[in-house]
Amino acid sequence: MKQRHMGISGPRVSAIGLGCWNFAGPYGPTSEKESHETLAAARDLGITLIDTANVYGMGVSEKAIGSFLKGRKSGFRIATKAGIRRDPSTGTRFFDNSQDHLRAELETSLRNLGVDHVDLFYIHRREAGRPIEEVMHTLLRFRQEGKIGGIGFSEISPSSLRLAHAVSPVSAVQSEYSLWTRQPDLGMVQACLDLGVGFVAFSPLGRGIFGAQAPDPTSFGETDFRKANPRFVEPNLSRNIAAVQPFKDYARDLGATPIALAIAWLLARGPHVIPIPGTRSAGHLKDCADGVSLTLTTDHLAEIERILPAGFAHGDRYSADQAIGVEGYC
Ligand SMILES: NC(=O)c1ccc[n+]([C@@H]2O[C@H](COP(=O)([O-])OP(=O)(O)OC[C@H]3O[C@@H](n4cnc5c(N)ncnc54)[C@H](OP(=O)(O)O)[C@@H]3O)[C@@H](O)[C@H]2O)c1
Repeated sequence: MKQRHMGISGPRVSAIGLGCWNFAGPYGPTSEKESHETLAAARDLGITLIDTANVYGMGVSEKAIGSFLKGRKSGFRIATKAGIRRDPSTGTRFFDNSQDHLRAELETSLRNLGVDHVDLFYIHRREAGRPIEEVMHTLLRFRQEGKIGGIGFSEISPSSLRLAHAVSPVSAVQSEYSLWTRQPDLGMVQACLDLGVGFVAFSPLGRGIFGAQAPDPTSFGETDFRKANPRFVEPNLSRNIAAVQPFKDYARDLGATPIALAIAWLLARGPHVIPIPGTRSAGHLKDCADGVSLTLTTDHLAEIERILPAGFAHGDRYSADQAIGVEGYC
C-alpha cells in the first residue's frame, strides 16, 4: 500500500484510510463481527489510518475498534473526533469546543478504544463564537499530556485553518470531497497544500452513488443517513443515478470498478489528499484499495472531467439540518 504524509507535522499513513462511521449503521445494519472482518481486511491490505468519532453510534464504532485491537498489534493510526453534542430533551444538535467537554469526550474515546493515546484528534465541528486559538491551546494541552498526537479540524474554512495553524501546526483537515462534492477545490485543498496540512476526504464514494450497483432507497432503513439527504431523494436520486452511469461505463472500459476510479481521481487531486472510504464489508474495502494502484493520466482525468463536470450533482450535499455547523467560506 502506498503511503502519504498526514501533513508535515503528522505521521506517514496509508494513501487511503478506513472510515468507521459505517460500523454504527448509517448506511445499513451491520454487526461487530462484520466490523472486525473489515478491520482485519484493512490490516491485511496495509491500510493504517482508521477514522472514527465519539458520536458514531454514540460509542458503537469506537468500541468495535477497541474490541478488535484488544491484545493485537495492528499498526493502525487511530483518528477520533469530538465537539458535537445533542440536547437530551429536544435532540437538537449543538457544538461544544470547551476544554471540559473535549476532555471528557477524549477520555471516553480512549476508554472505548482501549488505548491511552490517539494519533489524531479532530474538532468534529467548530463552536461558533469560541476563538479557534483557545481551542488550539486546549488541544495542545492534551498533546502535552500524551493523550493525542496530531490535531485536526473537520469542515472548517481556510481562514480558520490559517488562524489555528498560526498557533501550532495542524496535521489534518477533514471535509467532504469527491467527484460530486467539489467545494474544497475553492480554497481548502490549496490552503492545506500551502501549509503542509493533510487533507482527509470524507464520503469519497459519494455515500455509495459510485458503487457498481445504484443505491436503492427502498432498502434505506429509518436511520439511514441518505433518507433525508437531498441527493438521495426523488427526483434528484434518479437524475444522479443516470448522471453517473457514463462514469461507470468508463471505469469498465478501463478495467476498473467505479469505486476504484473514484478513489484514484481523489488521490490525483494532490499528494496530501487522503480519502477515507467507509464500508461495512471486507469485499467492498478491497475495491477501494484497488484505487490506490490505479494511475490516471492527464487524458484519463480530462475524460472524467468531461463525463462528470464539477457541479453535475442534483441536490445539495446536505439538508439544512445536516449542514448546521459546517463553516461556509464561498
Ligand atoms: N467529518 C465528518 O463530518 C464526516 C462525515 C461523514 C463521514 N465521515 C467519515 O468518512 C467516512 C466515509 O464517508 P461515508 O461513509 O459517509 O461515505 P462514502 O465512503 O462516500 O460511502 C459509503 C457508502 O459507500 C458504500 N460502499 C463502500 N464501498 C463500496 C463498494 N466497493 N461498492 C459499493 N458500495 C460501496 C458503503 O456501503 P457498504 O457499507 O455496504 O460497503 C456506504 O453505503 C465515514 O465512515 C466517516 O469515518 C466524516
